[in-house]
Amino acid sequence: MSSKKVIVVTGSYKGIGFEIVRLLCEFYGDRATVFMTARDPTRAQSSLDNLRAKGLNNVELAQLDISSKDSVTKFRSLIESGYNGVIHSLINNAAMAFKVAATEPFSQQAKETVQNNYFGHLTVCDQLLPLVPTGGVVVNVASGGGRLGQVSSKYQKILTDANDIATVTDVMNKFVSAAQEGKQKEAGFSNSAYGMSKLGMIAAGKVHAKQLREKNISVVNMCPGWCKSDMAGWERPPRTAEEGADTVVWLETMDHTSQMKRSGGFFRDRRQIEW
Ligand SMILES: NC(=O)c1ccc[n+]([C@@H]2O[C@H](COP(=O)([O-])OP(=O)(O)OC[C@H]3O[C@@H](n4cnc5c(N)ncnc54)[C@H](OP(=O)(O)O)[C@@H]3O)[C@@H](O)[C@H]2O)c1
Repeated sequence: MSSKKVIVVTGSYKGIGFEIVRLLCEFYGDRATVFMTARDPTRAQSSLDNLRAKGLNNVELAQLDISSKDSVTKFRSLIESGYNGVIHSLINNAAMAFKVAATEPFSQQAKETVQNNYFGHLTVCDQLLPLVPTGGVVVNVASGGGRLGQVSSKYQKILTDANDIATVTDVMNKFVSAAQEGKQKEAGFSNSAYGMSKLGMIAAGKVHAKQLREKNISVVNMCPGWCKSDMAGWERPPRTAEEGADTVVWLETMDHTSQMKRSGGFFRDRRQIEW
């Protein structure tokens, strides 16, 4: 059994997630166990070795596929059996995006992207938020691509006013349905499957912030900016993954009173921004 702070970062063996793990391991030292999680842990072994070689022995590697309920449930059991059933900080970083040059039809891109990035995120929240105690924090790595302005004023109002996850899910399902017929624009949505999935993540984060305020748990959304990674590419993005991780670490490591003041907000570069 562990009495240390437990931090979980999804999709974190590479890219921004890896930098979040590394920076949090450096910040907390012996005071925390930081879970680097990956859907395929064999791909993560060299990342783990990299951190251990730096003397960061407070990192643990675990299997976690956000799109698999079975995988998320097994991860939950691991935390329940070995870590007092407590996750003090949950960093939702895992996501995918089709490349601009992808040849899959938009209907398929919309379905798969929303399935992974939105419904996978919800699976993690359903299973793991109950393990976050009073005083805990949830940071969602969203994106400026998830901006509210990409949907019609009707959906902007529905998402802004949402008090339950079912309302957000209904909007996401309507987007995927419209995309099956190529009618997403007429229906009031955008032509970005990734942007819509991140919009859903931000809207759900705002609902979770409202629901968990009573339990004194802070839930914040953030955008890391355009960073070099497998997802965004290595030539054009101006930022490093470490720079993208900075605001996550800032949000996770500030005192809890400050975290609660920020709960429900959307952040970039250590500042609150408009959704
Ligand atoms: N880079 C940017 O410019 C940028 C801008 C705004 C927001 N973001 C956000 O930042 C986060 C990290 O992205 P990145 O740029 O660092 O890209 P990345 O290097 O491609 O990292 C994405 C990570 O998510 C994992 N992942 C995807 N689906 C998963 C699933 N179902 N279960 C578990 N892990 C899964 C990937 O694992 P696999 O290798 O197994 O697929 C990978 O480890 C994402 O949420 C992304 O949307 C990035």
